[in-house]
Amino acid sequence: MTQGGQAKPGRRSVLGAAVLGAGGVTLGLPGTAGAAAGKGHGSYRDLPVPTVVAHRGASGYRPEHTIGSYQLALDMGAHVIEQDLVPTKDGHLVCRHENDITGTTDVAAHPEFASRKTTKSVDGVSLTGWFTEDFTLAELKTLRAKERIPGTRQENTLYDGRWTIPTFEEVLRWAEHEGRARGRRIWLHVETKHPTYFRGLGLGLEEPLADLLRKYGRHKKNAPNFLQSFEPSSMRRMAELVAAPRVVLLDAADTRPWDFVQAGDRRTVADLVKPEGLKWIAGFAQGIGPWLDLIIPKDAAGKLGRPTTLVRDAHAQGLVVHPYTMRNENTFLPADFRRGTDPAAYGDAFGALKLYFEQGIDGIFSDNPDTALLAAADFARHR
Ligand code: G3P
Ligand code: CA
Repeated sequence: MTQGGQAKPGRRSVLGAAVLGAGGVTLGLPGTAGAAAGKGHGSYRDLPVPTVVAHRGASGYRPEHTIGSYQLALDMGAHVIEQDLVPTKDGHLVCRHENDITGTTDVAAHPEFASRKTTKSVDGVSLTGWFTEDFTLAELKTLRAKERIPGTRQENTLYDGRWTIPTFEEVLRWAEHEGRARGRRIWLHVETKHPTYFRGLGLGLEEPLADLLRKYGRHKKNAPNFLQSFEPSSMRRMAELVAAPRVVLLDAADTRPWDFVQAGDRRTVADLVKPEGLKWIAGFAQGIGPWLDLIIPKDAAGKLGRPTTLVRDAHAQGLVVHPYTMRNENTFLPADFRRGTDPAAYGDAFGALKLYFEQGIDGIFSDNPDTALLAAADFARHR
């Protein structure tokens, strides 16, 4: 629902802000026949199902969007590793969940950047902090990444300061290196963040992203990467630039994508999840990435209710369904899967994953790829 012509700040903007509160072993994977985990040149249809997408890397165990987080996810056996992209002042694409780097870097401890602290409106939300578009890449590289939610993930703070903010090109080189070492392609799931906002600043994301995908041979239909955005126009633009598969992300039902707000398109997510909306999406994308509550809504107590028909309706349009986000901690789980009273303790993540997998989803974004992989293996064994 819009309020005063602006999109209501979505649930994801809350989870994306600082409010949120074993590597080395390849696990047994569930699979389909064909190119498991992208071996050879199969398409996204050949990935194991349910596909485990490491959300911001193995962000349950390492500061998100660092090479350390991506490496651990890959070592755990995640099928796909996620990146969120924002630009620098000089047009480089870097991996951060949002352009506000206050909560995920040590920028506040750099006196030379104190004057860059500012307040701006991003997609209709007022934010105060430091923003990637106000820094050159060279300046950003002087910062170190840190854990976003130290109150919930204290153990991850052990790794604060260990890694810099990676550029997307560094990730592509890392994936190339890891792919050669493992004899298979490394799948990525790449999100354009705030694309309309950045285009308005003269920092369009899609063209430099397409250039990099072409440079690293990841632009074709069977390329080992999904592209994703909450703004459908970004995926339509990508469809004109490259052939790699595209996923439209869907926030809460009463929200409007920011590009719709800017273009005066009155449709909300509630419209997009109807068969007509899904048919429209299928005209330029291969999948949807819905908030989990669009698949099984919660009641007032936070318990899971009756599933919607979204998975079936999306499949009827030929769309794969990659919902977000599963996390092991009680605070992020449906109320019926929490265990004990400590919000940071793990709840019954296996039980929740099983229930979501039973809805027929094709993949899942998870901060804990090892947990999701075990649940996917259990599910594949018993279905
Ligand atoms: O892109 C899938 C999922 O990551 C969407 O949520 O806000 O974590 O980017 P967010
Ligand atoms: Ca994302």
